[in-house]
Amino acid sequence: MKRTHRCGELRAANVDQAVNIMGWVHRRRDHGGLIFIDLRDRTGLVQVVVDPQHAPAAHAVANEARAEFVLAVRGRVLMREAGRDNPNLATGQVEVHADEIELLNPARPLPFEVNRDVDVDESVRLKYRYLDLRRDRLKRNILVRHRIVKTMRDYLDAHDFTEIETPNLIKSTPEGARDYLVPSRIHPGEFYALPQSPQQMKQLLMVAGLDRYYQLARCFRDEDLRAERQPEFTQLDIEMSFADESDVMELVEGLYTRIAEECSERTLLFKPFQRLPYEEAIRRFGSDKPDMRFGVELVDLSEDVLGTQFNAFASVLASGGQVKAIVAPGWAALSRKETDALIEQAKQFGAKGLVTLGVGDDGETVHGGAAKFLTPDEVKRIIARSQARPSDMLLIVADQPATVADVLGRLRLDVGRRCGLIDDSKLAFVWVTGFPLLEWLPDEGRWHAMHNPFSAPVVMEVEALKAEPGSIGARQYDLACNGYEVGGGSVRIHKAEVQKAVFELLGLSEDEIREQFGHMLEAFEYGAPPHAGIATGLERTVMLMVDEPNIREVMAFPKNQAAMDLLMQAPSPVSPKQLDELHLQLKPD
Ligand code: AMO
Repeated sequence: MKRTHRCGELRAANVDQAVNIMGWVHRRRDHGGLIFIDLRDRTGLVQVVVDPQHAPAAHAVANEARAEFVLAVRGRVLMREAGRDNPNLATGQVEVHADEIELLNPARPLPFEVNRDVDVDESVRLKYRYLDLRRDRLKRNILVRHRIVKTMRDYLDAHDFTEIETPNLIKSTPEGARDYLVPSRIHPGEFYALPQSPQQMKQLLMVAGLDRYYQLARCFRDEDLRAERQPEFTQLDIEMSFADESDVMELVEGLYTRIAEECSERTLLFKPFQRLPYEEAIRRFGSDKPDMRFGVELVDLSEDVLGTQFNAFASVLASGGQVKAIVAPGWAALSRKETDALIEQAKQFGAKGLVTLGVGDDGETVHGGAAKFLTPDEVKRIIARSQARPSDMLLIVADQPATVADVLGRLRLDVGRRCGLIDDSKLAFVWVTGFPLLEWLPDEGRWHAMHNPFSAPVVMEVEALKAEPGSIGARQYDLACNGYEVGGGSVRIHKAEVQKAVFELLGLSEDEIREQFGHMLEAFEYGAPPHAGIATGLERTVMLMVDEPNIREVMAFPKNQAAMDLLMQAPSPVSPKQLDELHLQLKPD
């Protein structure tokens, strides 16, 4: 039998047609005579009716069929009897009356039901991923992912970009995570690294004159996994010659507007996208990837409590710290237990403590453990500054600026979620710009490139760079949406002497620069054009478009939280022979 139609595409217009359909038994109902089978393929379901009078052989097969058996059905499309149609099903007006059924393959009883959206332990879902992928939710996500990828390719092709593949066996690239290493058999004791991103390759493609490059690039990073991180993920990687920030941002904004409009049921909150300087993002939202769908902004109370007797605030201010707050609407009524849980949460986020002040019904007084340490004037100023209203609660953190921003930024998201302030039907894209070039790592006593060492500084004079490294901005831009970092990129350094100066600022010795990046510096000496680029995370893009909170739901075969592939069982030991060929010896425990 040859397939003529897809299950999910049959409609009233197909009535009276002879069709051959193939798929899985989604559900089977035996009405003691007639057997009804919902047959499913990628496009959806259709009801098949098997009548023992009309087709006894087909009925015998249908009688034995069980969930997820694979069948081929030859039959005729008929309208369903009046009153029997199913308005919830695209094919719900029609049914296929079987003439012949062929059993293509039986199925063992399943480890979990695939025809219903039941909760299944994730390790079981990952072990039997091919069954999980039969379910509606994952199937939808994978199909949307495909449409997003196609939209990316079509858009970039129309904008004159060339898709170019770069190798996966490369030399280590510094993107801030640990590398996955691949031992070389041919070169004993030497290793390739899997790319954390194709950063250097794409810049070299600009030196090569290829002008506009993109790639759906697989990247590998050995880092702690989170809800939005996998060790192996895909970037939409872009690089453009003779371009600056505005060219890249306009291009990507056009692309993401199209993706949102064509591939998502969510709608754009901002058109054009919002833009925020980094300093403002941190000051107002406590994050460089702020969720812009709601307010609850951070308020600086440092001036209002200057000279306070309350030691927790006074000592922090004396040591150059800040006192900042957010206002949680209606939380003054939280129980002691709930308030204690909040304080515990703030400590887990890295704060030394959290001051909670509930605002009284009069809108002028506050209650809470620290209330007695504040003067009426201080309370008045705090309420005026924060615009807290009766029955609101002030959540106050006093600490060094980075900790204050981080802790309040995260508490802000909790407040937004718990108070129902977040509209899940919206996508709030925001460009964050004006990042510092370098970050001081106090524990290591050295500068660190905030993004990557190839981002161009705002100042290109080597002397100026070296004079005040901490205050120099980078020509970097990040794209964030609903609290996720979607992408990041920059105008690049294209002059060897500037690139070398940045490496030196990062503390690399002459030898290290030559050994790790000599090829880049050399390339820049052969006529490198000015260039700029960006990479966005494909999985994060899909998560946003289909509103999934976990990256594993938008990948066909993800790793679990311990970076394991439960289906193929990787990583796994290898044979002594393989180790030997690679010149490797395992360290005894
Ligand atoms: P960056 O490191 O910011 O930039 O990565 C770009 C985007 O890739 C996604 N991403 C991830 N997605 C899933 N799992 C991960 N472990 C993971 N790590 C990153 C994010 C992120 O915004 N070479 C530069 C780009 C450039 O400057 O052009 C780079 O890789 O969505």
